Amino acid sequence: MTLYSPKEIYLDNAATTSMRQEVLDEMMPYFTENYGNPSSLYSIAQIARDAVDGSRENVAKILNCKPSEIIFTSGGTESDNMAIIGVAKALKEMGGHIITTKIEHHAVIHAMEELESIGFRISYLNVDEAGLINLDELESEISNDTSLVSIMFANNETGVIQDLPKISQIVKRRAKNLQKEIYIHSDAVQASGKLDLDTKKLGIDLMSLSGHKIRGPKGVGCLYLKRGIPIAPIIVGGGQERQRRSGTENVPGIVGFSKALTLANEEKDKFNVHCKKLVDILKLKLQNLEYPHIIVTPDKNSLSNILNVCFKGFEGEPILIGLDMKGIFASSGSACSSASLEPSHVLVSMGIDPKLAVGSIRFSFSLDNTSEEVDVLIESLKNVLSELHILTQT
Ligand SMILES: Cc1ncc(COP(=O)(O)O)c(C=O)c1O
Repeated sequence: MTLYSPKEIYLDNAATTSMRQEVLDEMMPYFTENYGNPSSLYSIAQIARDAVDGSRENVAKILNCKPSEIIFTSGGTESDNMAIIGVAKALKEMGGHIITTKIEHHAVIHAMEELESIGFRISYLNVDEAGLINLDELESEISNDTSLVSIMFANNETGVIQDLPKISQIVKRRAKNLQKEIYIHSDAVQASGKLDLDTKKLGIDLMSLSGHKIRGPKGVGCLYLKRGIPIAPIIVGGGQERQRRSGTENVPGIVGFSKALTLANEEKDKFNVHCKKLVDILKLKLQNLEYPHIIVTPDKNSLSNILNVCFKGFEGEPILIGLDMKGIFASSGSACSSASLEPSHVLVSMGIDPKLAVGSIRFSFSLDNTSEEVDVLIESLKNVLSELHILTQT
């Protein structure tokens, strides 16, 4: 009996997810009969307007905020850009210093670099070997001219979760002592559907979310922006979204995002139990693998569905190609640029040797994955690594 299933095995749910049928069903009428522009006055437009308003109320309930505090965007990247560039521009007179971490998604890092190029001062916090920031370092970096702190909720490569309530306590206490406002943004794109997104409990002022990581559509997401926080729009035009984000609303996308978030939030306990079980099985089976490797994702403070493993003496990309040929899809943290393999900035920040970091593979699970798929993965990995090992010896 062969272990290889003709079925594809998708283990890259942190990159994107397959959309649910229920989400597509909810969206369909807004592509077809309810096609009105929500800004128009006639009745079919009002149907679209009601759908956008209803979706906003839905999302606000899950985030425990007011509907007016939700701005629909084109996804996580735009939400991150808007939070960072929009708030920084609006607050320039209050201070040109922003704090972030070395392990953020590029949607945050590149937005910070953009601000650096126009004179802002950015502090990039270190992380320890478990991927966590040092709270004392955060506290000591806060100064008179700090206006924004942007720290991701859960990391997309390692799954490591930062302690946002603690971070909020520190930032708000320091802000009080300095008698100024310091706002906290968090990229929660990977946390949605896995962690509680209650913005009051988390103590944050801005939060980015994306639809396609939670079995919703691509190209849509939202930014939670606490009432009263000034923001300069980064997309200008017709003044939609209360002048904060222009452009005709992506009505089907917004409806789909709201439905996907509702379903993902409802089943997050089931999701976490299921994915943790699969990750535990994978970790156990990896122990018997004859090729040396390290497991990057820590047991504690990490998402239930991500496991990042670095294979010593291998590069990630050939492993991925080998797995792909066997119908298994995963991801590597490294990026090929101008023929040189760049190790992931996240793994290097955690102190992992760049030579080891280039051998990183991220497996990310969903409710659709099974323990049989983990068995197939392990057998396939053994084959791929042995084939690559032979190639490097010849
Ligand atoms: C942590 C994180 N932030 C932001 C993004 C960007 O989101 P989007 O693809 O919706 O632009 C991603 C997607 O990979 C992500 O994982």
